[in-house]
Amino acid sequence: MLKLNSISFRYDMTSPLLINNFSFNAEKGDIIAVRGDSGTGKTTLLNIICSVIPKIFPGDLSGTISYNNIDISELSLPEVAPQISLLMQHPDNQLFFPTVEQELAFAPENLKIPSKDILKRIVEVLAKLDIEDLRHKETASLSFGQKKLVTLASILTLSPDVYLLDEPFAGLSQKYIKLISDEIKTQADNEKIIFLASHTNDIAQFANKTIEMEKLNEKHQD
Ligand SMILES: Nc1ncnc2c1ncn2[C@@H]1O[C@H](COP(=O)(O)OP(=O)(O)OP(=O)(O)O)[C@@H](O)[C@H]1O
Ligand SMILES: [Mg+2]
Repeated sequence: MLKLNSISFRYDMTSPLLINNFSFNAEKGDIIAVRGDSGTGKTTLLNIICSVIPKIFPGDLSGTISYNNIDISELSLPEVAPQISLLMQHPDNQLFFPTVEQELAFAPENLKIPSKDILKRIVEVLAKLDIEDLRHKETASLSFGQKKLVTLASILTLSPDVYLLDEPFAGLSQKYIKLISDEIKTQADNEKIIFLASHTNDIAQFANKTIEMEKLNEKHQD
């Protein structure tokens, strides 16, 4: 189980709290919609859950996050990421390699997965997302939507326990929205935990829990 215990956060000491004493439990199979207007802190919350805040981006954070009873602040980012993986809102921040295939191979190579298994995973994931044609493309040449699909593919090759998906449908056609929605449901059926941040209503229909960011902001709690 993933537990957020009394999380409070602001980027600097002079601002109001973006997250004010928030506690939440996520269980296997949960699909959690993270909702709220632009600037309410959806991305911030996902960054906190995977410890990118404070490990990469600084801020004033209190409270703890535990996964299977381990406080994730005691783990390094490379230890956290294969279990709790983030799909970033902006895919350019998450693509590092010249070709799609190299991009998809990187994370499983780091986990010392044998290369023939890595290739098998890559082929499976590309087929699942219907992007086999991108396999040998240069990542820099892709459209925004294609980059989003490739970053999602790279997370799927890791098969983490917890998916943090920040605007996974942005820039995608109805066909891919449906495909990803179905994949999210499949992952939940396989006992994964999925957080879905979006300001559109498209996610409410299949989430079984909801976090309304406005309710977490200090200025809305008077
Ligand atoms: N690194 C940072 N330093 C200071 N303030 C930040 C930083 N990153 C985000 N913020 C501020 O924190 C607030 C929440 O931002 P965040 O990106 O988490 O919102 P969001 O709900 O994901 O928005 P969107 O729907 O536009 O993606 C905003 O007011 C933003 O300006
Ligand atoms: Mg955001």
